[in-house]
Amino acid sequence: MMNIDDAVAKRRSVRGYLPDEVPQDTLREVLALAQLSPSNCNIQPWITHVLSGPSLRSLGDKMVAAAEAGIPPDPDFAADRKFEGVYRARQVDAAVQLYGAMGIDRHDRPRRDWAYRRNLDFFGAPHAALIFIHHTFEEREAVDLGIYAQTLMLLLTSRGISSCAQGALSLYPGIIRDHLGLGQTHRAVFGISFGYEDPAVDANQARVGRAGLEDAVMFHRELIPA
Ligand SMILES: Cc1cc2nc3c(=O)[nH]c(=O)nc-3n(C[C@H](O)[C@H](O)[C@H](O)COP(=O)(O)O)c2cc1C
Repeated sequence: MMNIDDAVAKRRSVRGYLPDEVPQDTLREVLALAQLSPSNCNIQPWITHVLSGPSLRSLGDKMVAAAEAGIPPDPDFAADRKFEGVYRARQVDAAVQLYGAMGIDRHDRPRRDWAYRRNLDFFGAPHAALIFIHHTFEEREAVDLGIYAQTLMLLLTSRGISSCAQGALSLYPGIIRDHLGLGQTHRAVFGISFGYEDPAVDANQARVGRAGLEDAVMFHRELIPA
């Protein structure tokens, strides 16, 4: 198994999978370990539904059908923010990498829409973890979901299992709740598709970079004059 540095360095978003399922024992092992994630006051606000097999494929079919029918997304949390400045530049850079790997011109709207819709079928992954939060919770608790998700993805990575966190899996929460028999108490935040990478899928050649330490972290020792 990988050490933590290697798992952090090797994890990347994978958007094309082999059909092989992850053994059930491994699934339970990583999900049990991810339970050790820290959270504010230890409330552990993540509610995780793991879908596989017919349950997963059928949900994917429903969400893809909704998108193809032009049904507008209706996420529980706003998902249409426009990024500006350096954030927009990073977003564009990631898109250039991804669509470049897929041979799609960034301005080719129909093919980009097709590429985006692959999200809704979990990029063909054999499993997905859909992560919900109780309807009374807000940003503070959502932070805990992020920590949980990264813990889960690193545990998967260390076992050779790839993943992709997807806000896109929260675009049709009504369909998801109906599919899983959940009430309005469950708010969809995001999902994680996972399984074994299909190296033949062109999207998986994409590599995105990161800002340097100097752009992200400020070190302080001396007092700042008033
Ligand atoms: C909360 C969250 C939501 C994301 N949503 C999507 C998504 O809907 N579709 C997608 O293809 N990638 C999605 N990503 C993956 C990011 O695009 C990816 O993490 C980022 O570009 C960095 O690339 P890397 O994961 O390969 O290092 C999401 C990542 C996070 C953490």
